[in-house]
Amino acid sequence: MKKLLILTGGGDCPGLNAVIRGVAKRARKEKDWEVFGCIEGFNGVFNSPHELIKLTSTKTAGIHVRGGTILKTTNKANPINFPVLQSDGTTKYIDRSDELVERLKSLNFDAIINIGGDGSQKISKALYNKGIPIIGVPKTIDNDLSATDITFGFHTAVQIATDSFDKLVTTAESHHRVMIMEVMGRDAGWIALYSAIAGGAEICLIPEIPYDVRKLVKRIETRYRRGRGFVNIVIAEGAKPKEGTITAAAGEKGSEHVRLGGVAYQLSKQLKDAGCKAEIRETVLGHVQRGGSPIAFDRILATLFGVKAFELAKEKKFGNMVAFKNNQITYVTLEEATKQPNFVSKDLYLVQAAKGLNITFGD
Ligand code: F6P
Repeated sequence: MKKLLILTGGGDCPGLNAVIRGVAKRARKEKDWEVFGCIEGFNGVFNSPHELIKLTSTKTAGIHVRGGTILKTTNKANPINFPVLQSDGTTKYIDRSDELVERLKSLNFDAIINIGGDGSQKISKALYNKGIPIIGVPKTIDNDLSATDITFGFHTAVQIATDSFDKLVTTAESHHRVMIMEVMGRDAGWIALYSAIAGGAEICLIPEIPYDVRKLVKRIETRYRRGRGFVNIVIAEGAKPKEGTITAAAGEKGSEHVRLGGVAYQLSKQLKDAGCKAEIRETVLGHVQRGGSPIAFDRILATLFGVKAFELAKEKKFGNMVAFKNNQITYVTLEEATKQPNFVSKDLYLVQAAKGLNITFGD
């Protein structure tokens, strides 16, 4: 029997379970493959005893509908930069990749499928370069990977943000308020841009287009002058003003990233300081955007990624990441996959169209 190991790393995302099921079901058809899951990223291999589970049909049946990941995940187990808590309370980062390679080799897997975002793809590339037969599957609600047109989880997050936006519109209208809705996305404004267009926002603030707060106040005043106005703003958690900074950063020990979140409150203060007279309320959507069931599109995309990832493993096409390009399920090298992130460009038609719809970016 050939053995395949699958794992999820980084933040969770709706659709992870659909990939796991896609891989396992497709592998089962071959009769000579066994699929195992590694618990909590590569920790399942680092831990003694190893935490590996056999993904039988009982384990994977119906899981494509569920959010999260049955394999658990972590963003604090990067083998190249592994956080180790010291006795004095500080954290030291060490390279455990050679140790991981040794452990993986001794486990004799014929293929490894690593589902994760940009950080996980970089880890896969490093492991592949050290001789591990690995294939990447891209995931992130942020949609910030350039090698794939869309990542699963993104449209589910946009749907959740849009549903929330719709709810905020009716209360904004009733109270003549300015509503600020903060969405995730790290340094990419995709969730904000899509939900601003889907919901019909007046203002959309994204990291790629720094805003001038005076222009925002002007837009708000114009809306209010026309009658008993209300304004709905979508702000991405990584958005920044042209002058000064507002990134709400809180460090977390061992985490790969600086935590974002809270810019809605800072924008609210900035608007007041710049003379905005309207009542303002803030909503930080946070992790609800990542939770729950994936929408049908994401279930399908994730399932197809799983099937394709297994097929690449069967064909020994290691060192690649599955991708969705020009409406096709395809693959790119991990080298290509990790070259550059996917940010919103100012010249993108989506941005121009949003401006045409009178959505202000504050630039
Ligand atoms: O990358 C996905 C994401 O949800 C970002 O949009 C967000 O900034 C971050 O993860 C939150 O990470 P955590 O779950 O560690 O707080």
